[in-house]
Amino acid sequence: MDLKGRIFRGCVCSIILMGAAAVCLSLMFPVFFAETSLSDKVLAQWLMWSRSSGTTDDIGRGLISGDGRDDCPQLKVHVYDFPRRFHLGMLKQTELDQDLPWSDEEVPPPWPEKPVRNIGHNVEYWMLVDLLDIREGRRGDRVVIRVRDPEEAELFFVPFFSSLCFNRFDYHTNESQGKVIQGEVATLVMESPYWKRSGGEDHIIPIHHPNAFSYFRDLLNASIFIVSDFGRKVPEVSSLKKDVVAPYNHILPTYEDDNPADPFNSRKTLLFFQGTIKRKDDGIVRTKLANILQNQTGVHFEQGMKNETGFKQASVGMRNSKFCLDPAGDTPSSCRLFDVIASHCIPVIISDRIELPYEDDLDYSSFALFYSVEDSLQPGWLLSQLRNISQVQWLKMWTRLKEVSHHFEYQFPSRRNDAVNMIWKQLRRKVPAIKLRMHRKQRLRIADWWNW
Ligand SMILES: *[C@@H]1O[C@H](CO)[C@@H](O)[C@H](O)[C@H]1NC(C)=O
Ligand SMILES: *[C@@H]1O[C@H](CO)[C@@H](O)[C@H](O)[C@H]1NC(C)=O
Ligand SMILES: *[C@@H]1O[C@H](CO)[C@@H](O)[C@H](O)[C@H]1NC(C)=O
Ligand SMILES: *[C@@H]1O[C@H](CO)[C@@H](O)[C@H](O)[C@H]1NC(C)=O
Ligand SMILES: *[C@@H]1O[C@H](CO)[C@@H](O)[C@H](O)[C@H]1NC(C)=O
Repeated sequence: MDLKGRIFRGCVCSIILMGAAAVCLSLMFPVFFAETSLSDKVLAQWLMWSRSSGTTDDIGRGLISGDGRDDCPQLKVHVYDFPRRFHLGMLKQTELDQDLPWSDEEVPPPWPEKPVRNIGHNVEYWMLVDLLDIREGRRGDRVVIRVRDPEEAELFFVPFFSSLCFNRFDYHTNESQGKVIQGEVATLVMESPYWKRSGGEDHIIPIHHPNAFSYFRDLLNASIFIVSDFGRKVPEVSSLKKDVVAPYNHILPTYEDDNPADPFNSRKTLLFFQGTIKRKDDGIVRTKLANILQNQTGVHFEQGMKNETGFKQASVGMRNSKFCLDPAGDTPSSCRLFDVIASHCIPVIISDRIELPYEDDLDYSSFALFYSVEDSLQPGWLLSQLRNISQVQWLKMWTRLKEVSHHFEYQFPSRRNDAVNMIWKQLRRKVPAIKLRMHRKQRLRIADWWNW
């Protein structure tokens, strides 16, 4: 191992001293410039694209700013060169060359604004474009680095837009087409020597929609799935132990300048809910909650409309409410939670089996309330709990909520500690345990004797 590599590994993640960080970074610095081969023209296109996608470009900011920068070594991820029709090609279906992989000379298309129902489950897109962005100068803020040589990779990313594939080819359109595509991807993955080497446990596969990759995910169950929850998956296929829970992408806009003089009293409604009242499975709780909450003083509880007018009303309503109800949808999680967070309304979560994104970093109880289904269905109980929360307590939670809300933003280019980088951090923490298991397996001469 060369000197650079040694110092790189020597960086202690959580308790690094500033001096050591400076040495570490200065030694790594030449790499940033050696690795890029992009022409000025392509760079300019990336720049334009990132501007047009509505975020401030922060090229070059990370390395010099140094304020709370992420000092751990970057996670090294190899992206499979799959034909584009499995990922970005799905956004530009008219394009020829659907069998070619994506090249460095191409700038990814933006995620389409319509249909809105595809937006919630698009983490697969944000992870891929973050990996494809190989511009220099942004490294200081980024958790991940794409490596060309699979031998150098710590993890492997499977570029398949499995949620979009489900939404495109579901039972309304052509489900068998979806099954064919899933099968092709599964075959490609399982034929890879790197898959065979690990049995798949160092592979990342986004399957955020509850029905994504449904025909083949059980064959790939050793992999790290990026999921929304565990509602429609058996524990042998998906579990908190090996997988990563990622936020839905919110549909309602982020509340940018939320700085009123008196936030508590300016939010007039005590408890807000506007959405689909009739849902399946876990969502049956919604109808029951409607029966006890509708028409109560301080409560707005209405059936929502899934169009521009409905979204606008929901956004205004959440911004004017102290608390927002987040009952289970068809599965334990729902996109609503992330709309509520973006609106800085304290979430009231009533979903007994919910799992939440990056809970090793975030303590949700500091900015959200959790009640059991059983408790909240006692008439009058929930509202008396909420009314009993003092202005001081509420302000504390609201302040914290505003502090954490940037962790739930998907954007390009990615920014420090935004959704995509929080997800990479979760993945990075899984690497040591995966390596331990893989290395042990390599040298064992008998079947694992204590089933460790
Ligand atoms: C659905 O997809 C299958 C498999 O690709 C194809 O054979 C069939 O023609 C498609 N059906 C329709 C109605 O498009
Ligand atoms: C994957 O599924 C098989 C068959 O159900 C099971 O034996 C195995 O333990 C599962 N793997 C993981 C990592 O859960
Ligand atoms: C609430 O009031 C509306 C209008 O008066 C009525 O239609 C609805 O049934 C009421 N809901 C409940 C749960 O009482
Ligand atoms: C939105 O949907 C509601 C009910 O589904 C309908 O009454 C209303 O006209 C729609 N508004 C727009 C702007 O499409
Ligand atoms: C109201 O809040 C206070 C202080 O947090 C607590 O001691 C009390 O038990 C609560 N009352 C109810 C009815 O929950």
